[in-house]
Amino acid sequence: MAEYNAKTKRSAQWFETASKHLPGGVTGNVKFYPPYPVYLKKAKGSHVWDLDGNEYIDYMLCFGPLILGHAHPRVVEAVRKQVEQDGTHIFGAPHELEAKMAERLKGIFPFADSVRFTNSGLEATMHSLRVAKGFRKKTKVAKFEGAYHGCYDEVLCSLAPAESAAGPRASPKTVPGSYGTSETTVENVLVLPYNDIENSVRIMRAHKDELAAVIMEPVQRGFVVPDIEFLRVVRETTRELGIPLIFDEVMSGFRMEVFGGACTQYRVEPDMICLGKIIGGGFPSGAFLGKRDIMDMVNPVTRAKDQRVFHGGTFNGHPTVLSAGWATLDVLQEPKTYPYLNRISDKLRDGFNDLFSRMGFEARAIGPGSTFNLVFSKGKIGDYRDAARADAKLRQKLDYGMLARGLHFHPDKPFYTCTEHSDNDVARTLSVADEVLKKMKQ
Ligand SMILES: Cc1ncc(COP(=O)(O)O)c(C=O)c1O
Repeated sequence: MAEYNAKTKRSAQWFETASKHLPGGVTGNVKFYPPYPVYLKKAKGSHVWDLDGNEYIDYMLCFGPLILGHAHPRVVEAVRKQVEQDGTHIFGAPHELEAKMAERLKGIFPFADSVRFTNSGLEATMHSLRVAKGFRKKTKVAKFEGAYHGCYDEVLCSLAPAESAAGPRASPKTVPGSYGTSETTVENVLVLPYNDIENSVRIMRAHKDELAAVIMEPVQRGFVVPDIEFLRVVRETTRELGIPLIFDEVMSGFRMEVFGGACTQYRVEPDMICLGKIIGGGFPSGAFLGKRDIMDMVNPVTRAKDQRVFHGGTFNGHPTVLSAGWATLDVLQEPKTYPYLNRISDKLRDGFNDLFSRMGFEARAIGPGSTFNLVFSKGKIGDYRDAARADAKLRQKLDYGMLARGLHFHPDKPFYTCTEHSDNDVARTLSVADEVLKKMKQ
């Protein structure tokens, strides 16, 4: 921490200034970490520079969306062209790109019949849940303990509960995730144990008549992978019970080993899927896709006003955002892209794992595709509770040592890779990690 403080004096000063105007000096709690975050000024490809002029290799990448790195020329060009061609950056009236992008997404996720756009991942999950509630005429939803679906009361429940408050592992209690959550909200959320077939099925069956939807991150928090059998059983059970299954792929979408989502890689089809992050190419974005009968709940042509689920948003389907997303998907779809991303990501993951085992740390780099997390634990990481038991102090030492030596990421959060990360970046990253881990051993 002393090294971090010594290198980031201007960030410390700016934190004082920013704190006069923004609670905690940030505009979103996830952006804060103690004692103050690095404030960035400039970027190029996979590198960023902070207010002190320090250069970093960036593994935060805006918490995932920048899979092509910062200001990829194809994305910048697409945005410029779109604005020039339209003579505006948004009409507000419907735009051709909306249906074109919807058609493209349906091609990637063939189980879906129609699409609505939103401005964030949060909105995508919120609207998909609302649509499912209208479809089922029920208000209770089930989510898995430890899953993040955005920052509204309902899905914040049991995001990161203290184990002492969370009840038995096999039957998790619903724990409010934010001060100010109403009792009704808590009553309307059922919490399931991730990767636990027997107990998830038992709880879903017991509540089958109350549930509007089951929402899940197929890969929790970007790095806790599912047992495939668990995913399949959740799918079969929800289908049998007639409960819409929503995959929240805001994080896992396009960050698996294949072009598509976790549903593509694991060949498990939900009834609805939520996307965000990458489909906006680094601009605020989201979408929910699904089967026609469910999606038509918002249809103003086929449903009378009092039979309809409300869906709105001034900026939905923003042409600038869609053009950036379109260009991003173009690059991702090129045959060389995923092999390169997978190779670079594996090299990093393997490199960290080699360092941990050579130096005798009970730690692992885990996660699929172009996302991984560093977890100081020797046991299996099968769910939120396993991950929460990892050694946070060791992780913190590694984090601040690496930040002070030119690697940028959010402490205690996953690393994201991009097509701009080079073999040199990987070598530099592993040499920094090697240096910090050696210091930790002294
Ligand atoms: C799985 C998942 N769902 C939803 C969200 C919310 O997306 P946004 O931050 O765009 O609202 C996130 C954000 O990290 C996420 O990881």
